[in-house]
Amino acid sequence: MEHNIDKIYAQALNEIEHTTSIEAVQDLNVKYLGRKGIITRFLRNISRLPADERPQAGRRANEIKQQIESACHQKLAILEKDGPDFVKRIDVSLPGRVCARGTMHPITQITQQICDIFSRMGFEVVEGPEVETDYYNFEALNFPKNHPARDMQDTFFISDDIVLRTHTSPTQPRVMEKQQPPVRIIAPGKVYRCDSDLTHTPMFHQVEGLLVDENISFGDLKGTLTFFVHQMFDPDTRLRFRPSFFPFTEPSAEVDIQCVSCRGDGCRICSHTGWLEILGAGMVHPAVFEKVGYDTSRYTGFAFGMGVERIAMLKYRVDDIRKFFDNDIRFLNQF
Ligand code: PHE
Repeated sequence: MEHNIDKIYAQALNEIEHTTSIEAVQDLNVKYLGRKGIITRFLRNISRLPADERPQAGRRANEIKQQIESACHQKLAILEKDGPDFVKRIDVSLPGRVCARGTMHPITQITQQICDIFSRMGFEVVEGPEVETDYYNFEALNFPKNHPARDMQDTFFISDDIVLRTHTSPTQPRVMEKQQPPVRIIAPGKVYRCDSDLTHTPMFHQVEGLLVDENISFGDLKGTLTFFVHQMFDPDTRLRFRPSFFPFTEPSAEVDIQCVSCRGDGCRICSHTGWLEILGAGMVHPAVFEKVGYDTSRYTGFAFGMGVERIAMLKYRVDDIRKFFDNDIRFLNQF
């Protein structure tokens, strides 16, 4: 019998020694000393021993009970002092894990540069919603009801009347509804079109520009965009305005810059034309002014919209637009 309790004692000490958490020590305390604990049960059963063995066994069991109690206390004190369990499981001599620090995304950088350049010319930066009504995305911009741009082919419809904006131009009527001229704003943001290849992603970024006042001419548009291009690229870059069509501008133009790579000689980047298209622009159509209640006999204005990815690709010579959205830190770190 005595032999037996000494074995239990040795096992208890061994178990306590190898615990690594406060909870584990508490569990062992219950296992040996709890109401149904091993030692407690032993003490309770002493009465069944032969009378001459009882005093000796009782003394030994009580001693062991105290020893286990104090071993638990000591172990608890150590664990509490050493702090949370995980500290013990961590090899503090291992080199730390390097936390890859991100960079400002190239598209964010270019957007900011564009906004900076126009801010210096007195344009105010505004933003509009990405989930837009059919009215602002199309109707207020003079798109006829059956215009192909409203087709499922490139517009993401949320419902019959709600779309993901296909361009930043809806900020034009939104701003003009709220204020009388002079208006001088740029509106950066995300736009969505159901399109995907080397140069198109379903989501991309545009910066819209709008200036309305008395006596604004196409010459002001040319001067403003020329200044912008010279700041963004370099002061020798030539511009070319090609006639184009947008329902909300008249006349409309597409603006090309001299190829940043071959300087106009013709190369792969510019498809051997020497020119690169960077934006759409034009004089605000009077129908757009009428919808927001502007006096068309008094005010004229110009608007433009440029693709940020397009400008970033040209500036950084990136040949695949999808690289901007792969989130590969090795690519992003270069900017
Ligand atoms: N919103 C047009 C587009 O996305 C660009 C544009 C903006 C054209 C403003 C003229 C004036 O293609």
